[in-house]
Amino acid sequence: NKVPVITLDGPGGAGKGTVSMLLARELGWHLLDSGALYRLVGLAAEHHGVALDNEAALGVLAEHLDVQFLTAREDLVQVVLEGEDVSHELRTERVGGLASQVAALPAVRQALLARQRAFREFPGLICDGRDMGTVVFPEAPLKIYLTASADERARRRLEQLRAKGVAASLLDLKNDILERDARDMNRTTAPLRPADDAVEVDTTSLNIPDVVDLILAEAKSRG
Ligand code: C5P
Repeated sequence: NKVPVITLDGPGGAGKGTVSMLLARELGWHLLDSGALYRLVGLAAEHHGVALDNEAALGVLAEHLDVQFLTAREDLVQVVLEGEDVSHELRTERVGGLASQVAALPAVRQALLARQRAFREFPGLICDGRDMGTVVFPEAPLKIYLTASADERARRRLEQLRAKGVAASLLDLKNDILERDARDMNRTTAPLRPADDAVEVDTTSLNIPDVVDLILAEAKSRG
């Protein structure tokens, strides 16, 4: 497969989502938000009353996920699950929690592999998640691992929520973040870790445009 791919992995709140969106826009490439797929499986499980430890049933659900990604505006994708617009619900902390539980199940991860790889189309793909560089696109020519301190990630989440008018406590957010990190890093299937050939970028004291520029420069230097 000759289609170029840049993978961005790392824990939640490191800035992957925004940075990926800006990179895709800058390069005119496709964008895969793999976390959204795990969030959708969690949400579908809830809708269908499937228990979060029923691996076989969740695998089937993931395989047959009825979802559409509609581009409403250049920077706005509408996510439709089984005919229902779930764009907003998908981003909630609650659904993030469901996602990280179903994401620990090998059957679910396996079921989503082909769907994720299908996003690799010309002229290129920017993908963000936890295992883009290690499992889904191990041969990607450029792999980025974004991190930031847990305090900084909690602060960013709080700001995002505030902007949406949602009240939250910094301490609760930090605890959620640490709990999800632990679950993502300690699971046996596709644990969160930098690929051996990943470029690690600590974004704690960097702003978004600087991170984007740094990655674009890295991409350019590799041709
Ligand atoms: O990135 P986002 O917060 O949307 O991801 C939600 C959850 O989905 C993560 O906490 C993680 O458990 C899971 N995930 C994953 N592998 C990916 C993307 C997300 O396990 N590639």
